[in-house]
Amino acid sequence: MKFLVLMLFVTAIHAKHETYSGWKSFFVKPVNHDQLSKLTSKIEEFDLDFVSNAAVNREGVVLVKPQYQVDFLKFLSDENIFHQIHSDDLKKQFDIDDQKIEARKLATRSVNGGRIPYDNYQPLDVIYEYIDKIAENYPETVTLVNSKSFEGRPLKYLKISKDKFASNKPVIFIDAGIHAREWITPPPVIYAIHKLVENVTEPDLLDNFDWILFPVVNPDGYVHTFERQRMWRKTRSTDQNVLSQICPGVDGNRNFNFFWNTIGTSNNPCSDIYAGSRPFSEVESRTVGEIIEENLDRMILFITVHSYGSMILYPWGHNGTLSQNAFSLHTVGIDMADAINKLSLPNFPNYVVGNGMLILNYAVAGAAEDYAHYRGVPLAYTFELPGLRSGFDGFHLDPIYIHQVCIETWASFVVGARRAGELYGRRNL
Ligand SMILES: *[C@@H]1O[C@H](CO)[C@@H](O)[C@H](O)[C@H]1NC(C)=O
Ligand SMILES: *[C@@H]1O[C@H](CO)[C@@H](O)[C@H](O)[C@H]1NC(C)=O
Ligand SMILES: [Zn+2]
Repeated sequence: MKFLVLMLFVTAIHAKHETYSGWKSFFVKPVNHDQLSKLTSKIEEFDLDFVSNAAVNREGVVLVKPQYQVDFLKFLSDENIFHQIHSDDLKKQFDIDDQKIEARKLATRSVNGGRIPYDNYQPLDVIYEYIDKIAENYPETVTLVNSKSFEGRPLKYLKISKDKFASNKPVIFIDAGIHAREWITPPPVIYAIHKLVENVTEPDLLDNFDWILFPVVNPDGYVHTFERQRMWRKTRSTDQNVLSQICPGVDGNRNFNFFWNTIGTSNNPCSDIYAGSRPFSEVESRTVGEIIEENLDRMILFITVHSYGSMILYPWGHNGTLSQNAFSLHTVGIDMADAINKLSLPNFPNYVVGNGMLILNYAVAGAAEDYAHYRGVPLAYTFELPGLRSGFDGFHLDPIYIHQVCIETWASFVVGARRAGELYGRRNL
């Protein structure tokens, strides 16, 4: 019996990423709206998985399962849509990614044994260890808030404030990791904690604002991507539908209570964009909703961090109409993107800024950014961090670039906070 267990264990290790054997990924670059529309209209037919969204003249990256590859390629040729192979075998690329993470661990081992949460792709316990330590070491400014995920893991976020949120300062909220596989997203939010608490070079940010930073909104999914399925995106709930036992999880960023399940979502629990059985069915998105509610009269800037695409997107994502705040949303968005572009590397794409639906040609209902704006947060954004460009080997952004992403993204948070303060900081005084 013991032997059998050992055998299974060994097989499991060797079978890592086996699910993705034979999957391919492609760069696709539509050059006009017509091509972009045709591309997005094929998502269901070919079960396409865009890990980096395409836009007009912006290449995206799409995963294609073996059974659809021939037809998908034929479609691209027929429509004359520019494409090139990104990865010939996803399993192999994920194995390379694992080696890069190990290499980074070795290269950074002199600092805290390589357990720096903003300098590598780290398992959940490394991130939580850091969050706990910060709360313990800085009790005057940092409050740890703890609730529970579907599978019972702690859902941890930090409130950072000079006076424990007791004054009426404007609140800035930033989250990441609602989509489990987007591993590049927690590091810049953790880095923001570091820059607000441990290495303060912009003291005005704590003098003038209170902060809520939530680096891993979906810890169940995050752990699942480390241990089982690298490309898992959803939560891990099993109570939504009879099918949820075999197809667990809900797309947390389709689960907010605003035009819920009306467009860009699915009723099928096995879909990656399943909206859930009802708005806020997921404790993870509900927790974000509750934070918005608790701070409604003070929250002036809401940022939810995703990947990939090098984009800053704003409402309304569900219908492409510009909100009454469009001018501020756009100009602050541009200022944040400029801050990033100024620090960025030559091999990173420039950021684009715009209405989510107009940029992606793809409407999405029940997303966090729309919800926050609808509830009254004047500036609400979805960030798509950089990654995945021709020339990188491996599938995901090489961990040697994580620190760069942290530094440049932090610069955009700094600018965003200050601009939000100028525009809306005094609205409740
Ligand atoms: C603190 O941050 C600044 C810039 O953000 C950096 O130049 C400096 O090296 C950091 N100091 C430490 C001790 O990490
Ligand atoms: C799009 O949604 C917003 C927010 O609900 C609404 O104000 C606007 O009128 C809608 N636009 C259209 C064309 O329906
Ligand atoms: Zn995402």
